Amino acid sequence: MIKPQKQRRKRGVILSRSGFQKLQDATAQAQIRNNHGYRYTLEALGELTGLDPDTVLKVYGGKMGVDKRTLMRCFKAFNLKLETEDFCGVESKKMKEDSSNKSQYLGYHHWDQAPDVSRFYGRQAQLATLTDWILEDRCRIITILGIKGIGKTSLGVKLAQYLQDQFDYIIWRSLTESLCFKSLLLEFLPYFNQDHSLSSEKTSHLISLLLGYLRQWRCLVILDDVEAILPSDDSSRSFCQDTQGYGEFFQRLGETAHQSCLLLISHAKPKQVKLLEGEFLPVRVMYLKGLELSDAVAILQDKGCMCNHSLEEWHQIIQFYGGNPLLLKFLAPTIQNIFNGIAGDFLALNSPIFGEVQDFLEQLFQPLTQTQKLILIQIALNEQPLCLSQLREQILPSISPQNLIESLDYLQEISLIDFQDNFLSIAPFFRDYLMTQMGESKNPEIFLNRVSYSFHLPVTSVSS
Ligand SMILES: Nc1ncnc2c1ncn2[C@@H]1O[C@H](COP(=O)(O)OP(=O)(O)OP(=O)(O)O)[C@@H](O)[C@H]1O
Ligand SMILES: [Mg+2]
Repeated sequence: MIKPQKQRRKRGVILSRSGFQKLQDATAQAQIRNNHGYRYTLEALGELTGLDPDTVLKVYGGKMGVDKRTLMRCFKAFNLKLETEDFCGVESKKMKEDSSNKSQYLGYHHWDQAPDVSRFYGRQAQLATLTDWILEDRCRIITILGIKGIGKTSLGVKLAQYLQDQFDYIIWRSLTESLCFKSLLLEFLPYFNQDHSLSSEKTSHLISLLLGYLRQWRCLVILDDVEAILPSDDSSRSFCQDTQGYGEFFQRLGETAHQSCLLLISHAKPKQVKLLEGEFLPVRVMYLKGLELSDAVAILQDKGCMCNHSLEEWHQIIQFYGGNPLLLKFLAPTIQNIFNGIAGDFLALNSPIFGEVQDFLEQLFQPLTQTQKLILIQIALNEQPLCLSQLREQILPSISPQNLIESLDYLQEISLIDFQDNFLSIAPFFRDYLMTQMGESKNPEIFLNRVSYSFHLPVTSVSS
């Protein structure tokens, strides 16, 4: 006789939404710190937690019940303590999910236009810091600053990939075409709700609507190339007519509580960020420097350079170019084609600034004010890092102290000078460029007047 089967009751406990979030956050951080950012396999998670992979799958899958001790082990593996609000019965979670439509929106990604980062090297320390700022410290605005080509966008996109499971929405948008702020809002708001009729609404009302969504959902919004909406003149770094709303948006996002994070990627800092930033505040800034030697070598190898043959010489080249991946990518084909891939031959020619690298440097130098240019030249003329008092002596008779401070502040912010222990320095490739441009005379004033003329800038006194 076949016994009638008992109806099986769903048993055990399951992570609540907040418990699930805690475990996910901690796992993501551990992956970045200890696993080069790669996801742990089930087997690896099994080893870490001391559970078999099937049980790990049940915990992370979030649908099947396990016993409470299993959840505790998982939490303990990531130095977390399981609290009562972190778990619930399987049935109660299911009921909650059925009555909520939230899950159907999970994981909306609007980042099709973001560049491909499948060949990405290094930056583990920066990824770990950014992850901490976002997951642990719940930062509201983070700005990644750095010189052109240093890898800001790549880092931002990689970060978004690592953290995609932690957010309901991920939105990436480049502002290269100096996008008017209202257009940005009209593009973003339908991601959350398509029913609004928005175009006639006032900008401040649209900002409030967007802020409401950023409170309701956990969103990572990445605005790239933010310098495009900042004025090229450094004096106020506020916004022009069409882009004014960005300032209000940054300020309100930085000052009010919400569960989202705005990641700004830029060459220069918006004024609002400067006002709100702080080491222990929810608005932070990361200054991105060049790549580590081994990571830069990996990029050159991808371009076909046989770096292993003369690693020392390749290291010299990388250091000269400040570990800037874009400059190294420009350089690699020339070394391959003209110098037969031999780094030593390239170095021997002693003329490392040419072609695209020259254009790159002109784009950096050209928009600066006369004072900023003069400061760079004075630093370049001294082979050793220059201390602030020396610079003041050399420069103060012709420019005001206020102008000197503002200019130094801006040059440091846009990564053209490095200011450490009271000493100022510039990257070797930039020094080389300035020295070559100055020609035989090495006279800053003659050079600056020549530069102003050739760039059609008004020739004023150097105090302008
Ligand atoms: N960590 C990395 N690993 C491999 N390639 C990288 C890395 N960082 C940057 N690159 C490459 O270097 C180039 C410049 O990087 P990226 O565009 O991210 O710089 P950026 O700082 O955003 O420049 P810009 O200021 O012009 O926007 C790209 O071709 C990118 O693929
Ligand atoms: Mg970029």
